[in-house]
Amino acid sequence: MSRDMGRRDFLNRGWKAGVALIGAAAAWTTWDLLRPLPGSALGGSVKTIAPSEVPTNTTVYVQAAQTFLTRIGDDVVALRQKCPHLGCTVSWCENAGEFECPCHGSTFNRAGEVRSGPSPRGLDRYAVTVSDDFVDVNTGEIIEGAPPGPESIDEPRRGEGCTHG
Ligand code: FES
Repeated sequence: MSRDMGRRDFLNRGWKAGVALIGAAAAWTTWDLLRPLPGSALGGSVKTIAPSEVPTNTTVYVQAAQTFLTRIGDDVVALRQKCPHLGCTVSWCENAGEFECPCHGSTFNRAGEVRSGPSPRGLDRYAVTVSDDFVDVNTGEIIEGAPPGPESIDEPRRGEGCTHG
């Protein structure tokens, strides 16, 4: 009798501990995805890479400015990492050739324009100044992304996405 009670008590506690662990893991994941980027500490000019290092058919991430740099035509573009929907952190998926938001599935082409999902506009941009030696990203000057519409670049999705397939 007391042995059964001991086993039952043990299983009951183990079950509760498992639920608590799953809850903690879910809370951590949610916080990690939704937390504001430490970009609030930005707000000024950040010298980044040389203009010659800015790619034309992909993007390069610059941690110091928390931005993706790419070249659209002759222009160097600095795209914010924050999804305009609810602020999650987007990432570049090389396989698909597009940005992906892990939270609700918005995708954006290389120019930051909305391709799918609930985002109300394209990725915001930072103002940039290009000199011979480096690209200066002004993280204090944000240019809002365009509302969903026709894409300005002819770069269809290349393949499977990285987050949602
Ligand atoms: S936060 Fe990016 S799609 Fe919702």
